[in-house]
Amino acid sequence: MTTSVFKSDKKTFFDPAKVTVFFILGGPGAGKGTQCARLVQDFGFSHLSAGDLLRAEQVREGSEYGELIRTCIREGTIVPSEVTVNLLKNAMAAAIAEDHEGEGWTEGRGRFLIDGFPRKLDQAEMFEVEICPASLILFFDTTEEVMLARLLERGKTSGREDDNVESIKKRFRTYKEQTMPVIELYEKYNKVAQIDSTASIEEVHKHASAAVMKVLAP
Ligand code: C5P
Ligand code: MG
Repeated sequence: MTTSVFKSDKKTFFDPAKVTVFFILGGPGAGKGTQCARLVQDFGFSHLSAGDLLRAEQVREGSEYGELIRTCIREGTIVPSEVTVNLLKNAMAAAIAEDHEGEGWTEGRGRFLIDGFPRKLDQAEMFEVEICPASLILFFDTTEEVMLARLLERGKTSGREDDNVESIKKRFRTYKEQTMPVIELYEKYNKVAQIDSTASIEEVHKHASAAVMKVLAP
């Protein structure tokens, strides 16, 4: 069973004996979403992208956070933790409920890839103390040059308001200033699997898969 890197006596919302969480980090364009899709095929994870959940909330009718989220995404800044953590908690609960409705609790569905999260230390702490401790960070690492090229390519068809040079520069900066400290903290607890994501999708997937396997079947 996984324990948190943050000290707390509180019981988390999800029981870490039943729910396994992997955090997926790396700069924008590092290949997080692509690799998550492949890991879902292999291991039957539920894949939750924090950015996707925020974009959905941004356009949800009646959301009180629409404007706030839009501004943060365009400026490449981090949305306040409460908003993102709550979206993740609801999405996890929904995925688990869906599973119980059908054939009952199947192995794999209590397993989550939380993609693009935690982007900042306070998000990490809030999630681990209140929701569920994470087993590992899969950290996809490559150069800004590679990430920029991928994002501009994606921007041709993604329709994302932040896949343009100006927003990308800001996102790189946020990543270095706010997200790298999260990775450094988890490294101290040996909870980071760093994977060079410069190589081909297939090659990167091999390494990612091996890192996941180590945790699921030690
Ligand atoms: O992960 P993705 O690139 O889709 O995230 C898009 C934007 O959503 C980020 O640049 C940031 O503004 C916001 N975000 C956030 N906190 C997260 C994930 C995304 O504030 N954990
Ligand atoms: Mg993504």
